[in-house]
Amino acid sequence: DWTADNVVDEQVAIIRETVGQDRVLCGLSGGVDSSVAAALVQRAVGEQLTCVFVDHGLLRQGEAEQVEQDFVTATGVKLVVVDARDQFLGALAGVSDPEEKRKIIGREFIRVFEQAARDVVGSGDDEHPVKWLVQGTLYPDVVESGGGSGAANIKSHHNVGGLPDDLQFKLIEPLRALFKDEVRQVGRELGVPDEIVDRQPFPGPGLGIRIIGEVTEHNLDILRRADAVAREELTAAGLDQQIWQCPVVLLADVRSVGVQGDGRTYGHPIVLRPVSSEDAMTADWTRVPGDVLAQISNRITNEVAEVNRVVLDVTSKPPGTIEWE
Ligand code: XMP
Repeated sequence: DWTADNVVDEQVAIIRETVGQDRVLCGLSGGVDSSVAAALVQRAVGEQLTCVFVDHGLLRQGEAEQVEQDFVTATGVKLVVVDARDQFLGALAGVSDPEEKRKIIGREFIRVFEQAARDVVGSGDDEHPVKWLVQGTLYPDVVESGGGSGAANIKSHHNVGGLPDDLQFKLIEPLRALFKDEVRQVGRELGVPDEIVDRQPFPGPGLGIRIIGEVTEHNLDILRRADAVAREELTAAGLDQQIWQCPVVLLADVRSVGVQGDGRTYGHPIVLRPVSSEDAMTADWTRVPGDVLAQISNRITNEVAEVNRVVLDVTSKPPGTIEWE
């Protein structure tokens, strides 16, 4: 019988057996999946685990601070924060193609982990190598990256399809057979706090795949401000539980004419993509009340000067995916 309890026992045993005395790294994003994966590995091998939070410059407002507060306080894991903003933005310069972006981001993540592995061993007082990398890959990620039986490659999830061929780590993916709701149950079983377990999904490649066009500091800044407004208003309206997630997307390659204040503008559209879903394999667009949408639209166009139009994505999945890239 499937119970979260059984999954924990089973995975803890497998992880102990697999890892032995080696050291383990876990990329922690602050999201549900990587947090639960980290908590599971910590339960299994405790001090052998070091978590790495990569600030790739593609985070939303306040995100880095939140991970340190919520997760570290709750679990006491060893956490290393790496500021890799220049590295990622440099590698993404001039790139607009979605799959190319995903592959670059996946590759740079691994580079950061490789450096972190050298630093961990370099600072330790024993010789156990860092052989293992934990990833919070879920079943739907595997299927949609083409890893499942007969599945097409829809997107290269950064933690599945985007790995380099010469990877120095072996992967531990304890959530690989699970759906999101199951991961949440496992997280609760492990005592991961509600603020993390109930968090809406946010993709590893972050805002990098929510800018249609080039990922630049300027575009990131626009999107970050618009996203913060949308999240604030949806939370204030009490919709967080009803909405699976709401990507906010900047159409950096598109401009339209508007009028703001006394003059003509030629700005960018922002897309709101609120979806309802059980497992992210399929989704429907959430019927967010019109007055909430109006408030978000008014605030974004007033507070983010570069944006002169807010549009609502009313496409289910399929045919649309949840993210735009
Ligand atoms: P799509 O856009 O494929 O998204 O309908 C399905 C779910 O997966 C999330 N997503 C990702 N999560 N790494 C992640 O950790 C990724 O590369 C990635 N791409 C999409 C997306 O936010 C949604 O919840």
